[in-house]
Amino acid sequence: MKLSDFSFCTLGAPIRDLSSFDCGRKSINDFFRNEALDYQSELFGKTYLLTPRNDLSKVAAAFTVANASLFTRLLPNSRKKKVGYEVRHSKGDINHPAVLLGQLGVDLQFAGHGLGSQIIEFVAQWFAGEKNKSGCRHMIVDAFNESELLSFYANCGLMPVFGNIEQERKYRQLEDDGRPLNTRLLYRDLVLLRRESIRG
Ligand SMILES: CC(C)(COP(=O)(O)OP(=O)(O)OC[C@H]1O[C@@H](n2cnc3c(N)ncnc32)[C@H](O)[C@@H]1OP(=O)(O)O)[C@@H](O)C(=O)NCCC(=O)NCCS
Repeated sequence: MKLSDFSFCTLGAPIRDLSSFDCGRKSINDFFRNEALDYQSELFGKTYLLTPRNDLSKVAAAFTVANASLFTRLLPNSRKKKVGYEVRHSKGDINHPAVLLGQLGVDLQFAGHGLGSQIIEFVAQWFAGEKNKSGCRHMIVDAFNESELLSFYANCGLMPVFGNIEQERKYRQLEDDGRPLNTRLLYRDLVLLRRESIRG
């Protein structure tokens, strides 16, 4: 399946009702069914839908994007260096602007055909591109802490911000309750896309 076989639209007109959308994860289905419109009207996150060009009433995939930051001052030095690749100016400690890709879901009918990976690539190019209206250094995802899902994101260039759970707990100001984290913070440095395009 190619992304060009699909149309993009924002949640609202013409599609408001995502009750038949099913990506197999209840929390994400519930978000699109019950919360996404409010998120959007309150300017907390904008939801985009992909519909097959031959059936514009069917939602094949949905995701939400929002402005976010990587709070570099709260990162351990080793991580700070990593996310600050080629940051030349004197603002080594500035928080890095980012786009948060949230609630990525591909309807089960369309899953496993490369759509999820292509959406991630599309969003990365979109926010790193000349037409983006503001600076956006990273893409970040707060991904469910499940090994196969984390591998999927790693294949899409999204790597854990933190090398270990203790660092991540500290950053998120979470108590150590002895349980694994529900989600892991992943990032992809979008400046690398620009460097690649300059080289290529
Ligand atoms: C995660 C998701 C968006 C991937 O979309 P997709 O279109 O199926 O992804 P792709 O076809 O591009 O990539 C699929 C690959 O990732 C793997 N993969 C993706 N998600 C996976 C998961 N949750 N568990 C196991 N493997 C997964 C597949 O096995 C497949 O591997 P392969 O290419 O070696 O066969 C989709 O599975 C989904 O909607 N899941 C439910 C919602 C969810 O968990 N979203 C993530 C929120 S953090």
